[in-house]
Amino acid sequence: MDNKTALAQALAEKTGLPAQDLAAWLETPPDPALGDYAFPCFRLAKALRKAPPAIAAELAASLALPAGIARCEAKGGYLNFFADQGAYAADVLKRVLQAGRAYGSSQEGQGRNVCMDYSSINIAKPFHIGHLPSTAIGNSLYRIYNHLGYHSVSINHLGDWGTQFGKMIVAYKLWGAKPVPQCTVRELVALYVRFHQEAEEKPEMNDEARAWFKKIESGDAEAVGLWKQFKEMTLKEVGRVYDRLGVSFDSYAGESFYEDKMGPVIEELREKGLLKIDDGASIVDLSAYDMPPCIILRSDGATLYATRDLATAIYRKNTYDFVKSLYVVAYQQALHFRQLFKVLELMGYDWVKDCEHVQFGMVSMAEGTLSTRHGNVVYLDDVLDAAVEKTRAIMEEKSPDLQDKDAAAEAVGVGAVIWGVLYTSRIKDTVFAWDKVLNFDGETGPYVQYTHARCCSVLRKAREAGYSFDPAALEADLLTDPASMALLKALDAFPEAIRAAAAKNEPYLVARATMDIASAYNKFYYDNRIMAEEAPLRKARLALTQAARDVLHTGLYLVGLQAPERM
Ligand code: ARG
Repeated sequence: MDNKTALAQALAEKTGLPAQDLAAWLETPPDPALGDYAFPCFRLAKALRKAPPAIAAELAASLALPAGIARCEAKGGYLNFFADQGAYAADVLKRVLQAGRAYGSSQEGQGRNVCMDYSSINIAKPFHIGHLPSTAIGNSLYRIYNHLGYHSVSINHLGDWGTQFGKMIVAYKLWGAKPVPQCTVRELVALYVRFHQEAEEKPEMNDEARAWFKKIESGDAEAVGLWKQFKEMTLKEVGRVYDRLGVSFDSYAGESFYEDKMGPVIEELREKGLLKIDDGASIVDLSAYDMPPCIILRSDGATLYATRDLATAIYRKNTYDFVKSLYVVAYQQALHFRQLFKVLELMGYDWVKDCEHVQFGMVSMAEGTLSTRHGNVVYLDDVLDAAVEKTRAIMEEKSPDLQDKDAAAEAVGVGAVIWGVLYTSRIKDTVFAWDKVLNFDGETGPYVQYTHARCCSVLRKAREAGYSFDPAALEADLLTDPASMALLKALDAFPEAIRAAAAKNEPYLVARATMDIASAYNKFYYDNRIMAEEAPLRKARLALTQAARDVLHTGLYLVGLQAPERM
């Protein structure tokens, strides 16, 4: 049992309060000189009807300390605990080495599905930098939930329906110069832009576009054929970006998939007395909840984004029986999701409490970071290309002898971009600057990857020298120097960071915990010799290096980065 759990149990026996609460109240003192754990006794003041310092003093004198705790001390209203450092080191090391890359995993999600709607790009539209947070956060949550035993279902809710496809067809038929499969998305976007320019002068083009979309809806072979081709070529192109990001989807059921599933939902809304006719449109009035109405059908009978999302939510519940359904979508759509969830609630679906809009802030490029060759839109693959190119140049300088620099530069350049958006809480806006995200000595993806590669190199050199260690026979007492202890604590904190990341849908908590391990390892590495020590100490330090390597690998993986062995 880990020290915190054991302490919480000891405190529970003494106070009669639930161990779970007590565990949550245990703190880590900012200064290790104050102990390894601290219990704020004001938490008990009400239940015990005593002043915190008195409680602290009493507990200090009478508490039966668990095996891993050497002593405790009352200090003001706090009860400070000092771990038996050797026992602590042995315990953490054993847990990490036994689990290896599975460290921090659990079975808490066994047999439970979590739906995750992320990336959700639009067909024949740019896959731009605004989709990066959704893609990166979603992919990281996908991995985090799976690590906790859940069954994640990743869904790319494609924007593949709507009158814009009628416009695309008109534009393509007018100006498209080659077969759709040979076009790039950029070329299609250019046609679309041109459509809008020319339609300003010739509004009748819009009628034509509407007619073409009607044809798609009614299954006209030519219209559907072109629409399908737009979709296929977009998916092929974005597929290359997803491959680079290490992202894949269990489902690409997008807006068009719900075309035949909205009717029953609209019927249900009507039966439940929720539909109101307003100026010819069918709406759900949400004025009682201080929100504009949710429009279900326009006056011309057309369905909307929200109509499709209603059908989607219900379909997902029926298909996956999720315990959570996450929508990783920019904060600009906050109102849309509040309306959506409210309508589902009014329909009587109590599972709507398990739906969450996992929102995030804006990403932009710092001035001069990328020359925008395509108007104002920043394409994600341009950002990745630039990152990889710059990384490659840095590597040329830092590690000229490295073999397969291309693969390493790809892993590190792409990783730097992903890390750049995951290292702050979701809702904060991110401004991308190369000197920040590619700083190998800063709090960046490359820094963590570099530390992982350093661990690999230490272990490789040990192997080459014929040094090994037996995890079952380590003298962990030798790991009580401050740098080793700090590293052990960082490793110890990792599983809780994963749980918290899932509970709050905040991947950055895992990124931070991983960063803590990386910086603690580097401090350990500079403070301590490894190879030159006598066998017992060398073995203990190699074991700690292996533990750090495995957890860094897992941390990088959970955030969505590769972990190259050499850099
Ligand atoms: N395609 C939309 C956009 O780019 C995002 C879709 C999000 N998912 C959803 N179920 N509404 O804005």
